[in-house]
Amino acid sequence: MNVHNQWYPISLVKKMSKKPQRFILQGQAIVVYKNKSGWVAQKDSCPHRNYPLSTGKLINGEIQCGYHGWQFDGKGFISHIPGLTQKYKAKTCSLTTYSTQVYEDLLWVCLKTDEPFHIHARPVFPGRKIFSYRTTILGDTADILENFLDPMHTSILHDGLIRSSSKPRKTKAEIRAIDHGVEVKYTEESHQSGIIGNLFGRLITHSYGRLTLGNIIDLEFHSKRGIEMTNRFIIVPTKPGENYFFSQITASNRWAPARLKVFVLTPFFLLALRQDKKAIKAQYDNHQIFPPDYKSTYLDIMRPYIDRMLKGEALKVIEKDIELYT
Ligand code: FES
Ligand SMILES: [Fe+2]
Repeated sequence: MNVHNQWYPISLVKKMSKKPQRFILQGQAIVVYKNKSGWVAQKDSCPHRNYPLSTGKLINGEIQCGYHGWQFDGKGFISHIPGLTQKYKAKTCSLTTYSTQVYEDLLWVCLKTDEPFHIHARPVFPGRKIFSYRTTILGDTADILENFLDPMHTSILHDGLIRSSSKPRKTKAEIRAIDHGVEVKYTEESHQSGIIGNLFGRLITHSYGRLTLGNIIDLEFHSKRGIEMTNRFIIVPTKPGENYFFSQITASNRWAPARLKVFVLTPFFLLALRQDKKAIKAQYDNHQIFPPDYKSTYLDIMRPYIDRMLKGEALKVIEKDIELYT
């Protein structure tokens, strides 16, 4: 089972311009632009003298290097070299070109050229309007994945916001294997106690936290009548200590329009996100002084799976039910 995704979102489509733009994925710089056939992603390095192509421009949908003017088509073939007297005939592709795909508001790129687009994780909430958001998070990728899946820090780091430390709730956690990942179902005996919990959590009977393909997290909140809200987080490692972070929220139209719910809750989500970003960055800064040697308990449910997924190892989910106080 391949548990490591090779496809990464790089941007919200609506935030993209057609012009060449540089992105960093897994330490690789890529240049992304749009021509007649769609989005093109290529290695951001001119084969002539390694000049960043993202500083060049588009000529009839082809990218022209800003140094000596070599020009490449959307497949990566050289189409023009200024000053050459005879026509340049390239037999092989000179510029590494990656596959791209638009899916649920996001532009995705695959660093492996032969991997078909497949998100084994389910669509966020079929048929619902998706509210997408992107930011950059400084920190370790595994620490970020853990943060967004971990309920235990919410009553401390986000005291009063998501949950309240003075009112811990008894929660049952059921850990199960799913396709390309692991899932935890949380059933609380009563509703959550922080501001977000009070605004939204009263109706919630149970929720799921899922991790698939090493970088997609799905949080799904259910009431007696079905799914009320989903929040997908996608973490994209760019370079050591830096990650793109996407959040995609959907909500049901029960009790209030989805758009209104998202509008009301967004400031609180953003506040919680700021607190998380600060904590993750502080953790990462400390790793530079004290290399991590983590002590864990059974409450740190997801960490072993996160570490294995990031290494591309088989998951071997140990299915069990545990009780915790969140
Ligand atoms: S470095 Fe690009 S054309 Fe010379
Ligand atoms: Fe958090």
